[in-house]
Amino acid sequence: MCGIVGYFGPSQNSVGIVIEGLKRLEYRGYDSAGVSFIDQNNKMQYYKKAGKLDNLKAELVGKDIIARACIGHTRWATHGGVTDVNAHPHNNEVLSIIHNGIVENANEIKRELAAHGVKFKSETDSESFLELVTYHLKNDMPIKEAIATSFKRIQGNSAFVILYPKTGEIFAVKRGAPLVCGVNEATSEALVSSDPYALAGMVHSLYFPEDEVIVHLSGENKNIANFYELDLTKTTRYLSKKQDMTLEVSEKGEYEHFMLKEIHEQPGLIRNLTQYYFAGEGKEALEKVATYTPERIYLSACGTAAYAGLVVRDFLEGINRIPAVVELASEFRYKNPILKKGDVGIFVSQSGETADTLAAQSICKKAGIKTMSIVNVDGSTLYRDCDDNLLIRAGVEIGVASTKAFTQQALTGRLMSAALAGDLKDEGKKVKLTGKFALLAERIDLLLLQSDAIKSVAESIYNKKGFFYTGRGAYFPIALEGALKLKEIAYVHAEGYAAGELKHGPIALIDEEMVNIALVGPELFEKTVSNVHEIKARKGIIVGIGPRGNEELMSLSDYYIPLDFEGLEELSPLYVNVVNQLLAYYMAKFKGTDIDKPRNLAKSVTVE
Ligand code: F6R
Repeated sequence: MCGIVGYFGPSQNSVGIVIEGLKRLEYRGYDSAGVSFIDQNNKMQYYKKAGKLDNLKAELVGKDIIARACIGHTRWATHGGVTDVNAHPHNNEVLSIIHNGIVENANEIKRELAAHGVKFKSETDSESFLELVTYHLKNDMPIKEAIATSFKRIQGNSAFVILYPKTGEIFAVKRGAPLVCGVNEATSEALVSSDPYALAGMVHSLYFPEDEVIVHLSGENKNIANFYELDLTKTTRYLSKKQDMTLEVSEKGEYEHFMLKEIHEQPGLIRNLTQYYFAGEGKEALEKVATYTPERIYLSACGTAAYAGLVVRDFLEGINRIPAVVELASEFRYKNPILKKGDVGIFVSQSGETADTLAAQSICKKAGIKTMSIVNVDGSTLYRDCDDNLLIRAGVEIGVASTKAFTQQALTGRLMSAALAGDLKDEGKKVKLTGKFALLAERIDLLLLQSDAIKSVAESIYNKKGFFYTGRGAYFPIALEGALKLKEIAYVHAEGYAAGELKHGPIALIDEEMVNIALVGPELFEKTVSNVHEIKARKGIIVGIGPRGNEELMSLSDYYIPLDFEGLEELSPLYVNVVNQLLAYYMAKFKGTDIDKPRNLAKSVTVE
């Protein structure tokens, strides 16, 4: 999940370029940041600081740095606490490295090297690779061979970037972790990174190396970037593509946080989605999906994306009557799933880089079944690995807590369900669905105009002991997502429950300090209201989110957020979800947490 960037080229501002790349990658981790570079005297220097990138930038202020090769890192800690010493790059007198991933046999390697007198400075697994390469160098192995030999030895999924001060060259290699190399032929500059977004606007061509390909940035062979197998023969095992990503410079504008801005972007994105798939560039991809004849669908994803998968499952089962199961990717990958011809694997992801989701996709691919993504990042690993892709068109999501991506994932799933139902051939059905999407956008617009009411509910409850989000049927996934949002940004305990399940145990927790956020849509209304009665009888605080004008639910609730469900039908849960997003946002704001970058989290989880 760490962000990595390396620059090789004639610019003397390589540190500035790498910092700009790191700024775009900070969402991958913000426990610490660091850079190392070769200065004008051909000496290696490094700076690294615990905390956000701003701490590192402050450290660099006033330093007159001239450097032509630089590597930099933003960390999400796995092995070793959040300290300056554990921050990357890891350095010794001959090398500097940055790492994204986990070296699973680090302890064993460290023990062996320690027996040869090697001293380790940090608690990280990454340093084992640094010292292993160094060990081989000291035994007169040439650098490329030392890297290849060391990389063969380590276990686990990782990407490394290595700066070699002796020549000023940069190397990179990966297994099961994202890595991209970008080249600007006109300026003879080359960069490597964990995400093409970091390179937007800096390079013209992108090269995505396959696993165990060494990327070598140097002037060798007149090419600034060369690719080698681990046996050091030249290779073309990479996918190349023009760099067409434009830098969507995300500014918060009038909003205090990116999360709030992204919540407000939802109506516009919803309106654009039907246009994109029914009449725009997405038409072909959706028409391709319409030719699928799945007997059973496996949806696999993590976190919020998995909850969006549950919403999509309900569309597929309810509308298409196709059996569909949602599997958490971290479980699916180790359960030896029973996959049959006729099954389709669908992988839901914002980043397209989540390690577990990629592993789940790879299992389905190996089993020979069709794989499709519902994904935000065009060109991500998931996008490249799947047979077909439906882009969710959410734009860049900066807030670590996913909001607009969830809505777009679910709605893209609704369009997929329409395609599978044969609706693309029926203009009337397309117009009707477009209208329903537009209605959802309009209702969310109106809700956002009334967010002060939600803010005042948040103010009344944010200090309570715990929160149960409850819902039945299509609202159960929304309860799970609502609780996750609150936990991650407000740091309070919250659980999502099927409303009918509470009485089977968790109701023991209910008292006057516990809040029930009751999601009560028009479907299964009576049943859900009777569950609210059960909580009220035990003195729980009720925040009702339900149909406007319903006297019974209103009087039962301590706080009531009325919604206009009419006409939204199966899209209603996504409307309720926006209330949950705002509730979580305002509760976190009253708590004073770091909303866009909550503690311990990273936007993209590229380790398992
Ligand atoms: C929560 C959140 C995470 C992600 C999960 C999967 O707000 O954002 O739970 O949904 O880490 O990430 P992607 O969608 O990038 O695969």
